[in-house]
Amino acid sequence: MGIPHFLVIPFPTQGHLNPSMQFSHALAKHGCNVTFISTEFNHKRVMMKAASSDQENLLGSKIKLASLPDGLDPEDERGDLQKLLLSIKKTMPSRLPKLIDEINALDDISKISCIVVTVNMGWALEIGSRLGIKGALLWPASATSLSLCDSIHSFIDGGVIDSEYGLPIKSQKIHLSPSMPLMDPKDLPWISLGRIFFEHLVQEMQTCKLAQWWLCNAVHELEPAAFSSSSRLSPIGGPMLASSDYNPTTFWEEDRTCLHWLDQQPSQSVIYVSFGSWSVLDPNQFTELALGLDLLDMPFLWVVKPGNEQYNAYPQEFKGTKGKIVGWAPQKKVLKHPAIACFISHCGWNSTLEGLYGGVPFLCLPIRNDQFVNKFFICEVWKVGLGLDKQENGVISGDEIKKKVELVRGSEDIKAMSLKCKEIVMENMEKEGGHYVRNLNNFIKWTKE
Ligand code: UDX
Repeated sequence: MGIPHFLVIPFPTQGHLNPSMQFSHALAKHGCNVTFISTEFNHKRVMMKAASSDQENLLGSKIKLASLPDGLDPEDERGDLQKLLLSIKKTMPSRLPKLIDEINALDDISKISCIVVTVNMGWALEIGSRLGIKGALLWPASATSLSLCDSIHSFIDGGVIDSEYGLPIKSQKIHLSPSMPLMDPKDLPWISLGRIFFEHLVQEMQTCKLAQWWLCNAVHELEPAAFSSSSRLSPIGGPMLASSDYNPTTFWEEDRTCLHWLDQQPSQSVIYVSFGSWSVLDPNQFTELALGLDLLDMPFLWVVKPGNEQYNAYPQEFKGTKGKIVGWAPQKKVLKHPAIACFISHCGWNSTLEGLYGGVPFLCLPIRNDQFVNKFFICEVWKVGLGLDKQENGVISGDEIKKKVELVRGSEDIKAMSLKCKEIVMENMEKEGGHYVRNLNNFIKWTKE
C-alpha cells in the first residue's frame, strides 16, 4: 500500500471550505496526499486572487487543487443554496469517476484511498462505494448538531417534530440522552430550512451512513455527551484550529491592516463584530447595530462584506469614529489578539470554535440553522456569553446591544469560563495521545487497511 491519498470534496460555501482546508493541512502534515475539489467557479475565483507564490506554496506541498463544474452559469447567483445544491447533484456525479481515473493515472503509488465529504456532498460517498473507495464525513458543525440531525427519525417517531417540515409539534424541552442538556425544540438545526431542504437533510443523513467515519470539527471535552451518543463520531476540532492558516479558498481578500490597528488599541478594549460568510443582516438590524456601536463609545472592528450594499446602509446619524470597518478580516488571528474584549457573532460553528480558542466572551445573534444550538451551548452550557434579545418587531435594539456588551464585559464569571474553554481547546490541540492524535492516526491507518 502506497501513501494514503484523500479526495476532499466540500460543499462550496466558506463555512465548509475552511474546515475542509484545515483538515487537508492536518492530513498533509501526517504525510498523506490530498486532492482538494472546488467548483470550477470558485477555483477560478481563488486562483485569480491568489498570488502565484501562494499557489506554488500549496501546489508544491502535498495538497493539490482540482475542480468540477457546479452546473450553474458564471453569472448565476450562488447565494441561493438550494439552487446550488440541486445543480451540483445534477452535474457533478457524472464527472467525478472520470476525475478519479485521471488522478489515479497520474500517480501509481498514491491512488485515491478515501473520499472525504462535508454534508450535502453525500452523493460522492455513493460513487466511492460503487468504485470500492472508502468514505468519511467531515461534519463542519458541532457534534451536538450532528447527533440531532442523526436523530431526526426518532424525533418524528416520538411526535416531537412533523415529518414534512421538521417543525416542533410540542413546546416541551427535549434531550437526546440523559447526559445531554435539555433543549428547546425551536433551536433544532433544521428549523429554518424549509420543506425541500429538510427533505434533503433527511435523505442526506441516510446517505452519510455510507461513511464509516464521521469526523467532527469539534472538541470532545466540550460536548462529551454528543460524542458518546454514537461510536461513529470522532472529534478532530481543536487540532484543525492549530493547522496552517493558509487557505487559498477564501472568497474575499483579507484586510490585514486591521491587525496593525488592533496592535494600537488597549488590551481587551475592542468589540469584534462578524456574521460569517453567508448571513446578511436585515437592514433594520444593520441600522440598530450601527447605532448600538456608536452608543458604546468603544473601539470596534466590524466586518461588513462587500456585495450586500442594498442591506447595509449606514444610518445618517452613524459616526463610527472609534471603529474600523473591513470587508473581510483574518478572523482566527483577530480572535486571538489581546485587544479583543468580546465578539458579537451569528454563532456559526467555525466562529464559535475560533472564539472559544481565542478565549473571547460572546454576544449572540444567531440567524439560522445550527447557530441557535451553538448559541444555546455558548450561553447555557459553557456560559461564555449572553444572548441578545429581540424587541417585538424582531429587531435587537442599539440599547440592548449596549446593555449586553457592558454586562458581558463586567462579568468575571463569563471571562473566567471563556478562559477555561480556551484552555480546554488548547489542551485538546496539544495533548499527545489525546482524542485528536489518536483519532487522526486511527483514521489514516484505517484507510491503509
Ligand atoms: C456556515 C453556517 O452558517 C454555520 O452555522 C455552519 O456551522 C457552518 O457553515 P458561516 O455562516 O460562514 O458558516 O459561519 P462560520 O461557521 O462562522 O464560518 C465563517 C468562517 O469565515 C470562519 O472560519 C471565519 O474565520 C471566517 N471569516 C469570517 C473570516 O476569515 N473573516 C471574516 O471576516 C469573517
